[in-house]
Amino acid sequence: MFPEIDHILVTREQIAERVRELGERIARDINSDRDTNPGVEVVIIPILTGALVLAADLIRELPLRLSLRVVAVSSYPGASIASKGAKISGDLPCDLCGKHVLIIDDILDSGQTIGLVKELIAGQGPASLRTCVLLRKPESVRVRPVEVEYVGFDIPNHFVVGYGLDYDGFYRNYPQIATLRPEAIAGDGSPSAA
Ligand code: IMP
Ligand code: MG
Repeated sequence: MFPEIDHILVTREQIAERVRELGERIARDINSDRDTNPGVEVVIIPILTGALVLAADLIRELPLRLSLRVVAVSSYPGASIASKGAKISGDLPCDLCGKHVLIIDDILDSGQTIGLVKELIAGQGPASLRTCVLLRKPESVRVRPVEVEYVGFDIPNHFVVGYGLDYDGFYRNYPQIATLRPEAIAGDGSPSAA
């Protein structure tokens, strides 16, 4: 079904276990913040489209009264594996002042996407602001240095797909994190015939 998949870096079992652990930690941290003021609202903000799959699994590990808002950011137009800078498309939730906010994204690579979203949300004065990513590439060049509180897995600096991550819009439904065969990725960022 997915002949272009090359190596699996993180299996679906490893992801499921890690998402449970992250959910426990996040719920504990948010609850301890709320000890002082239990009335403060919790808002979860997945960054579309890559964070969709992680967010769907993670929120079901959070036994909290929470609401869900989304923000859409694009950085890889079309069949490209190199970030071209982050741009918000559509509206950003604008009523986050005084709330506990958790941003969810699929991966921390150059830092531009999360850096931009964090900056815009921090400017609204939330009660707390945390970020959770499934993957982080420690060896990639951080165009923008950003702190993330929760990381599922550190992976080598390879282009990966699956569990929400795409290449040219595809493979988001592949249930594990994997690399693609080199021939499936066009060297110049244009669509390959594969
Ligand atoms: P940034 O470079 O940290 O801004 O990463 C931005 C976005 O690029 C992420 O939210 C992903 O959607 C995408 N991205 C970064 N690395 C990969 C990858 O290895 N595979 C697929 N998408 C990626
Ligand atoms: Mg993407």
